[in-house]
Amino acid sequence: MLNLLESIKKQAQQAGKHIVFPEGDDARVVKAAEIVTKENIAKITLLGDESAIKKLCPDVDLTGIEIINPKTVDIASYAHTLYELRKAKGMTPEEAEKLCRDEMYFGVLTVYLGKADGMVGGAKHFTGDMLRPGLQIIKTAPGINTVSSFFVMVTPNEKYGENGVFIFADCAVNPNPTAPQLADIAIASAKNAQKIAGIKEPKIALLSFSTKGSAQHELVDKVTEATKIAKELAPELNIDGELQLDAAIEPNVANSKAPGSQVAGKANVLIFPDLQAGNIGYKLVQRLAGAQAIGPICQGFNKPLNDLSRGCSVEDVVNVTAITVLQA
Ligand code: ACO
Repeated sequence: MLNLLESIKKQAQQAGKHIVFPEGDDARVVKAAEIVTKENIAKITLLGDESAIKKLCPDVDLTGIEIINPKTVDIASYAHTLYELRKAKGMTPEEAEKLCRDEMYFGVLTVYLGKADGMVGGAKHFTGDMLRPGLQIIKTAPGINTVSSFFVMVTPNEKYGENGVFIFADCAVNPNPTAPQLADIAIASAKNAQKIAGIKEPKIALLSFSTKGSAQHELVDKVTEATKIAKELAPELNIDGELQLDAAIEPNVANSKAPGSQVAGKANVLIFPDLQAGNIGYKLVQRLAGAQAIGPICQGFNKPLNDLSRGCSVEDVVNVTAITVLQA
């Protein structure tokens, strides 16, 4: 795993990108800004009050880090941009001005306006507080309808997945995806398995409590429908479903439950049917199997925005920043 992260950081160092950290009032974020700058992973803009940041982290060297305080800076162009983007949804100029003083909105607008290439936030904010300005301002990339997220899961059991490495999706964004959204999540996750996790041949399993018709239920129907859509949209990918988890990753079970499948028993990209399953699933594997969970990494935005867990470490912030640079 060290190799995967080291390789991601090395690629980031070549990219020369600029990332905004909206939470200058969090000591982990400030420390990560110092490391990212010193290791040349990205140029960092930190949002917050400079004297408060220095008081919070007196030992952190802020050389080379740009600091902007959204509470005091001139936000006229930001507020105008936000108003223009959201007036059709009923936003007033006054509301736009007020929202721009919020560091999450200011950070997302910084990326939207091209003053930074991406944003990493969420050490102190709920996932929704991070995603909502992104969905309203940055929106989805051309041709993409769904923003979702994935984790790179590095499990200690190299027998499964790609030498123990998996992509799990969606574990953080869409509470109850429709079949077309689930298909979008599967395809986007396969692309990121290649681009970010170095999985050369993604084998994508759409998970359920049923394998190939073993159970009948509308929840299963959603997964079979999503599989059909994903296969039509991306015939070049190895996609199969509906599969139970054991049939997806364990060759012996796959032989009896899904014989002939190109994915069953070999899956390395696991697509969960909804957010309850995905969020619980990644945390089970992280806590009980001792897997490293890198993410959540957002996919589908027109420019990269990534969410941190509120329990994140300084190292997590640095790692997610390097991945954000690769997405930029
Ligand atoms: N993809 C693309 N567009 C979307 C998506 C999506 N997944 N979700 C919402 N949108 C659009 C909406 O259509 C809307 O567009 P418009 O206003 O331009 O018409 C815009 O984004 C904003 O939508 P809202 O209705 O304001 O936002 P919503 O209430 O749907 O919330 C959110 C979206 C924030 C993603 C919500 O679904 C959410 O909170 N998800 C769960 C996050 C969470 O708590 N995760 C678990 C913890 S994370 C962890 O443990 C690692």
